[in-house]
Amino acid sequence: MPAPDRPPDRPPGSPPGSPPGRPSDGCCELRKRLLQWYDEHARDLPWRDPSASPWAVLVSELMLQQTPVSRVLPVYEQWLTRWPTPAALAAAPAGDAVRAWGRLGYPRRALRLHAAATAILDEHGGDVPDSYEDLLALPGVGDYTAAAVASFAYRRRHVVLDTNVRRVLARAVRGVEFPATAVTRAERDLATAMLPPDGPTAAAWAVATMELGALVCVAATPRCSTCPVSDLCVWRGAGYPPHDGPARRGQSYDGTDRQCRGRLLGVLREHPDPVPRSVLDAVWPVADQRDRCLQWLVDDGLVARVSDNGYALP
Ligand code: ADE
Repeated sequence: MPAPDRPPDRPPGSPPGSPPGRPSDGCCELRKRLLQWYDEHARDLPWRDPSASPWAVLVSELMLQQTPVSRVLPVYEQWLTRWPTPAALAAAPAGDAVRAWGRLGYPRRALRLHAAATAILDEHGGDVPDSYEDLLALPGVGDYTAAAVASFAYRRRHVVLDTNVRRVLARAVRGVEFPATAVTRAERDLATAMLPPDGPTAAAWAVATMELGALVCVAATPRCSTCPVSDLCVWRGAGYPPHDGPARRGQSYDGTDRQCRGRLLGVLREHPDPVPRSVLDAVWPVADQRDRCLQWLVDDGLVARVSDNGYALP
């Protein structure tokens, strides 16, 4: 890992074994500082506006998974203008959702959002449900999204563990560079113990921690000199011990199946239906990879084979 921007110049503020921010000290200092930092530094993002509807929050959370804010913003705005409610999206063909997903990547999310809109209409009268359990039962909604929507849209008290939150807690409280690949029981217990007692403050704490991970406590080169809790950070206090778990997944994209599928879908988005096979063949040079990826898209319901030689969005 490239060195963080400031090496530790003095020991952390508390002895090892009782890191500040642990439930034993009420997490008060860590929490207070992060909430204050968020008040002063938070990005002004539309899904954080108090006027954002629960549907807008759900749309944003599904779009933001594995996709940077800058890419989500324009698609999010267009999406909500076109489909301001779950009922509006449910009334459109699923292919329109895939087309409108544009280049956000992981396009199965578009189909899932469409399926979620249909379920919200059929099972909840068109209103995004407010309980974690009902949200979790929607297609494409996992623990993170259910907790995030219950928390951010309805101010319910939930542990919201995304990669940024997990990294901040791993470093500041547990003293390790990165969390485990999947959420562990100990990690969840710690996050639960640190959760503020009321829903609105829990929601603010979640988004503040998320924002610190996105802007300051970033994965590769944390900006410790601008971190409001650097003196409390156990990882920093320990001298930034390097990650000792399994190698983390690289982000390389060139030449991958994901890139190939993205190209094929791009053609289908931009050409009138049906798209002949030869047009698809022209956008990716490796024939067996191209065939496999096209089949994957068909199997996944993202692309329909409409004739011997013609393909279209569903
Ligand atoms: N604000 C609320 N949820 C968010 C997310 N998933 N990413 C960035 N900002 C957010």
